Amino acid sequence: MTPTFHTLTVKEVRQETEDTVSIAFDIPEELMESYQYKSGQYLTLRTEIDGEDIRRSYSLCSAPHENEWRVAVKLVPGGQFSTFANEVLKAGDKLDVMTPMGNFTIDSDKSHKRSIVLFAAGSGITPIISIAKTILTQEPQSDVTLFYGNKSISTIIFHEEVEGLKNEYMNRLRFINILSRENLGTPLLKGRMDVEKTNQLFKVFLETSTPDAVYICGPEQMILDVKESVLANGIDPSAVHFELFTTPNSAKGAPVEKYEGPQIDANVSIILDGDRFDIALESDGESILDAASKTGADLPYACKGGVCCTCKAKVLEGEARMDVNYALEPEEVEAGYILTCQAHPMSDQLVVSFDD
Ligand code: FES
Repeated sequence: MTPTFHTLTVKEVRQETEDTVSIAFDIPEELMESYQYKSGQYLTLRTEIDGEDIRRSYSLCSAPHENEWRVAVKLVPGGQFSTFANEVLKAGDKLDVMTPMGNFTIDSDKSHKRSIVLFAAGSGITPIISIAKTILTQEPQSDVTLFYGNKSISTIIFHEEVEGLKNEYMNRLRFINILSRENLGTPLLKGRMDVEKTNQLFKVFLETSTPDAVYICGPEQMILDVKESVLANGIDPSAVHFELFTTPNSAKGAPVEKYEGPQIDANVSIILDGDRFDIALESDGESILDAASKTGADLPYACKGGVCCTCKAKVLEGEARMDVNYALEPEEVEAGYILTCQAHPMSDQLVVSFDD
């Protein structure tokens, strides 16, 4: 389904910590089907600030069984959307919200008996808490270990909710708090989740049980470090899933090699919602998404940084390459999918479909 914006009513804006609010939306009956989601997916919110179209993606912290659509927005100093969400937005306001997207998901099955290990840092907890709630409620035989890194106790988002889950699922949820600026009484729980810390955590908490799946969400460096440690501890790469919650500021770790070859002039046919239109893309390095948007096409996008996968499309004819790809799984790339915000033609004819 092509991601689509609808104008929704804000049901509640709740202060979660000093600098984070969570926002719940009312979904009208007729849109229920379009807004069905899996734990780990995100919503893209859109508003206009000073005449500028501002879009930001936020992971859902609610879980599907809760019949709620709630995201958390942390105030970023100078951040246009996060300031608006934290200081202006209130219940009853209308906001453009895209239908749920994202690959960082988990499918639950009552018969599964598995060990799920979750690593979150800061507001990276949002998709992670959703995944934890889904596994704890939908898979009665599975257990969850949650490592959650923060600066201090007061900055822990959803602290009470996680503690509540721990009390409710005492035998199936292990919750390990790691703080970088406060002491919890043991050196193991003090510091950042880097390679060394994750190795120590593995040794202490995971030596006797091998995780069946690992989900990591946080800033880029944290993901790279935790992933390195997890793989070094023998976990199969196919069992390791990660989601960046910020646009990466370096190409380090981007799973695409730097391209140094020539740019190509191309005719690009774009298929969207059953319509087909052509653009002439010049070899000036502009992405397919930007070039098509300039012609007035309303293509879906959110981050424009190769992170969120909202702009995903399939190459039906010809070839394209991407600058960076933090969002598509290797199988999707293999199947011909591209992130159009990062994509450039490698052949002079290209057909790209947003409908496949
Ligand atoms: S718009 Fe987010 S990956 Fe392209």
